[in-house]
Amino acid sequence: SDDELDRRILTAKATLGDSVVILGHFYQRDEVVRYADFVGDSYQLARAATERPDAEAIVFCGVHFMAETADILSTPAQRVILPNLAAGCSMADMADIDSVSECWDQLTALLGSDPDADGRLPVIPVTYMNSSAALKAFCGDHGGIVCTSSNAAAVLRWAFERGQRVLFFPDQHLGRNTAKAMGVPLERMPMWNPRKNLGGNDEQALQDSRVILWHGFCSVHKRFSVAQIDKARADHPAVRVIVHPECPMPVVDAADEAGSTDYIRKAIDAAAPGSTFAIGTEINMVNRLAAQYPQHTIFCLDPVICPCSTMYRIHPGYLAWVLEGLVDGRVENRITVPDGVADSARVALDRMLAVRP
Ligand code: 13P
Ligand code: SF4
Repeated sequence: SDDELDRRILTAKATLGDSVVILGHFYQRDEVVRYADFVGDSYQLARAATERPDAEAIVFCGVHFMAETADILSTPAQRVILPNLAAGCSMADMADIDSVSECWDQLTALLGSDPDADGRLPVIPVTYMNSSAALKAFCGDHGGIVCTSSNAAAVLRWAFERGQRVLFFPDQHLGRNTAKAMGVPLERMPMWNPRKNLGGNDEQALQDSRVILWHGFCSVHKRFSVAQIDKARADHPAVRVIVHPECPMPVVDAADEAGSTDYIRKAIDAAAPGSTFAIGTEINMVNRLAAQYPQHTIFCLDPVICPCSTMYRIHPGYLAWVLEGLVDGRVENRITVPDGVADSARVALDRMLAVRP
């Protein structure tokens, strides 16, 4: 029962004390978030993984790429645990290292790899945090960097200082929305077509590009629509519409603001009492904000939207199981990134952590 699980988790947590830290992403369900020592967006959680070197174990209530990042950024002695190994991210799975490497080989064959007169390389790879450690390592090895939804513009500026173009993967929407807000015209953002060899892509468009987009997307955020925003505005004329930048461009354009999960939380926190918000992001987070800020009216743009089904796979039962394992000296569901991959990925992550948003 829920009470039994609650008792088991709290008992294990008390026994483990400071030897374990539980990190939780905003999209986790309430029944999990309530046990987290720190809740945040993916950038904050990456930082948090570096901030408790005293903890022997980091239990990561989030998805696989977040736990990989925590393993890369934490100390070698620390063990990172993902309570359910099936908690992946369908967007992260849309870019694999073989396809990106093949794209890179074709692009560099077309564009060359020598710097221009200003010392800028023909193309800089930028991976969204929502990607495998192998892709972060690829960026580390090729002069590239990682970004999250909270620092994408600052990271793109970093990349444009060093490169004439950016290859941005896996999320086409974050790449397009961010570059557009920075003034990059849409015609200079071609999408790489992975089903064709270079001949099938428009070579001139690639030459003229500023950002080459990958075809990935988030199945949760692609469901938001302009029609939902129109309806929210018709029903609530004073509504403030905030969406996550993983939403398609027309949705971001129709919203008042776009920002990371923590941006959304802070905007609500800072608003005058009695404000009305329509939010375009995952439902567990929106429902929690609505409960935490009863002085506002807060609703999800799509009330019937599914939660992120993979975030939802972290059930309190798994949390109890991994914590009790630690009490008994067992490390269940450990996430380890091999050293060779982790070292290169850390280069790209450290570049990101050094960028000031
Ligand atoms: P944040 O970086 O805003 O936490 O988003 C992570 C994510 O997976 C959104 O779908
Ligand atoms: Fe991945 Fe989308 Fe879930 Fe975020 S909300 S973890 S991008 S599937």
